[in-house]
Amino acid sequence: MQRLLISLALVLVCCHGYALGPPIEACVEMFPLDHGADARKDSSPFTMTINATSYSPGDVIKVVLNTSEIYGHYFLEGLFVQMRPVTCLNTSVGTFSIETGDDFLKTMDCFAKPASAIAHYSHEHIHDRTFYWTAPSTANGHLYLRATVARNLKNFWTNVFSDFILDASIPNASPTTLKTCAVRSKQTSGVSITTSSSVVIFAALVVLAFVTKLTN
Ligand SMILES: *[C@@H]1O[C@H](CO)[C@@H](O)[C@H](O)[C@H]1NC(C)=O
Ligand SMILES: *[C@@H]1O[C@H](CO)[C@@H](O)[C@H](O)[C@H]1NC(C)=O
Ligand SMILES: *[C@@H]1O[C@H](CO)[C@@H](O)[C@H](O)[C@H]1NC(C)=O
Repeated sequence: MQRLLISLALVLVCCHGYALGPPIEACVEMFPLDHGADARKDSSPFTMTINATSYSPGDVIKVVLNTSEIYGHYFLEGLFVQMRPVTCLNTSVGTFSIETGDDFLKTMDCFAKPASAIAHYSHEHIHDRTFYWTAPSTANGHLYLRATVARNLKNFWTNVFSDFILDASIPNASPTTLKTCAVRSKQTSGVSITTSSSVVIFAALVVLAFVTKLTN
């Protein structure tokens, strides 16, 4: 009995990372730590096409994510998208929505903001997806969509961007003066990272404590 419960506790700790969709801890870096690989360095076969290149408060922008066949495959299995400011602040601006009946995408609440990201929740082979972004009620500066897209577990790109989306309230803005912010591409880095949810570890410790109590 004790062994069984200890194994259960270990399973809880070990395999938490394989739950479908990115964990909330991934919101800042958008890097899939549980994939056990670095990001691909080449330019990705994925595109995010937007139907507007500027926004005013409350505007809705349609986003079409698509993939090309240049690597001999034509699908993606994982997706994480946010609307990032060109100031490189670690936040996501506005809210996302998906089409009714979408069986691949869900919205996710990053940075304690409702529907501030788009993520996958199944591992189907998807070619393209359409989703929507709604601008907040106040101007937030120039923005762009940043995505991490996984073709499969070991082949993923953290450098997938849309064109810039200019803040229409800023005069004489030009996308040619803007730059996207650095993204994480390595599995190991100097930054200290939590790989498992502390909640799950806590739950496992509670189980272990319970087992110890039972057997004493
Ligand atoms: C972009 O698409 C959205 C949703 O379909 C629509 O509401 C919006 O008017 C479109 N924007 C432009 C500039 O066509
Ligand atoms: C994605 O690209 C393929 C190949 O070019 C095309 O057939 C398909 O219609 C595109 N999907 C969308 C939603 O634009
Ligand atoms: C955003 O997060 C990255 C990765 O943790 C960090 O390197 C960067 O300094 C942060 N940016 C700001 C503006 O705090």
